[in-house]
Parts: sequence; C-alpha cells; structure tokens
Amino acid sequence: MNAYDSELVKSILCKNNFEITAVADEAEVVFLNTCAIRENAHSKIYGRLGEIKHLKRKNKRLVVGLLGCMAQNLRGGLKQNENMIDIFAGPDSYKRLPAMIDSVLETGSKEYDFSLSEFEDYSDVYPKRLPGVNAWIAVMRGCDNFCTFCVVPYTRGRERSRTVESVVSETEKLAQEGFRQVTLLGQNVNSYRSNGSDFADLMRVVTEVDGIERVRFTSPHPKDFPDKFLQVMVENPKICNHVHLPLQAGSDRILAKMARTYTRDDFIELVDRIRDIVPGVALTTDIIIGFPTETDRDFEETYEVMDGIGFESSYIFKYSERQNTIAFKKHPDDVPEEVKTERIVRLFELQKRKSLAANQREVGSTLEVLVEGRSKKTDKEWIGRTEGNKIVVFEKALTACRAGDLLRLQINAATANTLFGEPIATHLKLTEKADEFSSC
Ligand code: 5AD
Ligand code: SF4
Repeated sequence: MNAYDSELVKSILCKNNFEITAVADEAEVVFLNTCAIRENAHSKIYGRLGEIKHLKRKNKRLVVGLLGCMAQNLRGGLKQNENMIDIFAGPDSYKRLPAMIDSVLETGSKEYDFSLSEFEDYSDVYPKRLPGVNAWIAVMRGCDNFCTFCVVPYTRGRERSRTVESVVSETEKLAQEGFRQVTLLGQNVNSYRSNGSDFADLMRVVTEVDGIERVRFTSPHPKDFPDKFLQVMVENPKICNHVHLPLQAGSDRILAKMARTYTRDDFIELVDRIRDIVPGVALTTDIIIGFPTETDRDFEETYEVMDGIGFESSYIFKYSERQNTIAFKKHPDDVPEEVKTERIVRLFELQKRKSLAANQREVGSTLEVLVEGRSKKTDKEWIGRTEGNKIVVFEKALTACRAGDLLRLQINAATANTLFGEPIATHLKLTEKADEFSSC
C-alpha cells in the first residue's frame, strides 16, 4: 500500500513540474513515506532521518517531509530529528504537497496536514510507476475493523472503495504500458462495495482487461469470505490460485482480545472450504506472537493451528505496542521479549518445514510462471513466480524469454524459499513490449 502511495505522490509532484531524482545530493525536496504498523518500521525512519540530516546541513533550503502513517500517528511527536522536518502529511493529504512545499520555501515555516477524509481515494491520480511486470492498485483505502493491536484505522481513516469504472480504467491504462499483472489492494478486500458491486464483481471485470494475464489481491479478512468470490476464482484462470488469509493467532481467547471476530474453528472451517472449492490453492498468512497475556497454552494453540493447516508461507511478527490502539489503552504489553523471541523462533522453524514440504511437493510438476526479470544474484538466471506466488529460478541459457512472459516450467528442485525449474518446449504467452521492462 505504501509503495502504491509513493507512486501517487510522485505523480502529484510531477504534475506540478517537479522532477524525480534518485540522487539524494541533487534533491531540493526529500520525502520519506512512512509505515507505523510496528516499531521497527519507525526505527528505520529514525535511521533515514539521521542520514538526511547531513544533506540538510549541506543545503539549508532542503525541504524535508515526513509522509504517511508514522507522520499521522505521531503528529509531530517524534523521538528525534523532528526539528529538521518541514512537512508532516498523513495519507489523505498528498494532493496538498505542492502547496505545502511552496509555503515552506516562501515563509520558512513548518507545514502540517493530518486531516483524514471519508472520501479521498485518489482515483483522479494516475500513479507514476516504474516499468515492471506487476502493478499495484489500491481499490479501497482505510479500515473500519479496529483489530485491537492495529494502528491502521487511526492512520488511514475510514474505509472507502473506489468505483469499478476507475479501477478498470486504471487497469486498461497500465496494461497498455506493458504491465502483465495487477495486484488489487485493500485492508479488507471482502468489504469492497461500490454501486452494488462487490469484490467478486470487481475481480471479474478486471480479468477481462486485455493484456492483463494475472490478477492478485490482498488481503481478505477471514470473518467474511463469500463462496461467490471463491467461485469467481475457480472460474477465472487469470486470478492466481493464492489466498493470503491472516490468522493472527490460534487461541480463541487471544483472537477475542484482538477483536478478530472469528474463532480458531471458524478459521479452520474456512480453510477447508477454500481448499474444497479452489483445488491446489496456495494459502499464506500473518501471525502475531506475544500479544498481551498470551500464555504458553495460547501459543501452543497457534502452533497447532499452523501445524495443522500447513501454510505455504507466513509473515510472523512479534507483537509491537502501537500508540492510540485499543490494545495500547487496555492491555499492557506484558509478554517478556525473551519469551516472544523463543516463540517466534519456534514458529519460524515450523514454517520453514512446512514451506519446504509444500515446495518439495511441486518437484516433478509443471507450473505456469510469470517471468519477472534477472535474478539479483547472477545474470545467468531468471526469476519468475508461480500462481501461488512462489519464486522460481531457472537458467537463462535455457530459453530466450523476457520479463512479462508466461512460461511453463518443469520443477526439478526446491528449497523452503525457492523452486528451481527448466522451461518446457512451448512458451505460453510472450510479451510484445518486453524490451521496455527487461530488468525489474
Ligand atoms: N504488532 C505486530 N504485528 C502487527 N500487525 C499489525 N499490527 C501489528 C502490531 N501492533 C501485523 C498483522 C497484520 C500485518 C500487516 O501486520 O499480522 O496482518
Ligand atoms: Fe488492521 Fe485489522 Fe484493519 Fe487489517 S483488518 S488493517 S489488522 S484493523
């Protein structure tokens, strides 16, 4: 979502005659787009501000702006380096950035805008994307769920959906630019609603856009996952067979304290239903360990659910207390750091075994892979992704493909994180504009 927002900001600035530079020393304005989801996201920004301080010393007129969720959540109450920041702008204030820059340059005063809007969805801004294979599209903004650990409802405000027409016209445009895949983004995509259309309707029309070969989405909330959506997934080969379904915890007591509104059994039933309706679907998840009052027994329940389901991969986080959230106000962060570490290490080990087993099951099979570009490690290899979002590495010498091509690969080896394959004779679909994004 933040990557997408940065593309919106770049577009707004370019429309106002700014140029984007990748060389920090050349810049007259530097923006940091920030995340507030966990404390380590904040820590990164304090580190970056330390680096920018040197630029500001060299160029007193350098305008420095802090954008996004951290700015919104702390509202100028930073731990350090606050004085060097000229602009603070939350996620709904990006259209005001050009005026804010002018004002700082003219008056030298600081500019703040933390207003949250019930309507701003930036559908009138076409993001400035770097060329590539995948394009993000935020189809909704904000969140009304108020999970007790989560800062998003406070930093991104109320949930609002873009119209189907605006999402489709953005998809058509980016398909013409050469993007092959779109990933539709929302904090809770199942609650997408626009003029009588739901998320299943939206997905269906997005897959009809010429030139788009794959459609992904993230994330649905387990509390409301309609069969209608699963049917659309099954009927539509362009929708990737992958569902990212955040579990967060496997103990009913902790799930209730998190206000997730489902139980462990509800979640397991949902997984069974998804696997029944969408054969071969890849399931991934998010887990938080060490939520306040989490006992060894609660943690074991999370372990058992993860062991039973066997996700293809998962993001596992230590609970991080966030200012303004319900948990911050009601439940002290009382699980000791060493206990959190022990628990996260056990889950990492479990997940590694599950991912390895899932990947080994693919060995010998033939999978469709969207080529993303050269491997970062060596230019002798290409990387691509399966529908299940697994990375596949294959030797460049074996085929004359380009980024954006869809190939069939025979999988012949696997680690927990990567599949290794070999193209089989026929290319499925080759890109026409491949030269424009041969590196990504
Ligand atoms: N502490 C740790 N992890 C968190 N997440 C959200 N808030 C917190 C927090 N306070 C995780 C959840 C969510 C993912 C995007 O980030 O697992 O699904
Ligand atoms: Fe946060 Fe819950 Fe909304 Fe996800 S659904 S963004 S975890 S409040």
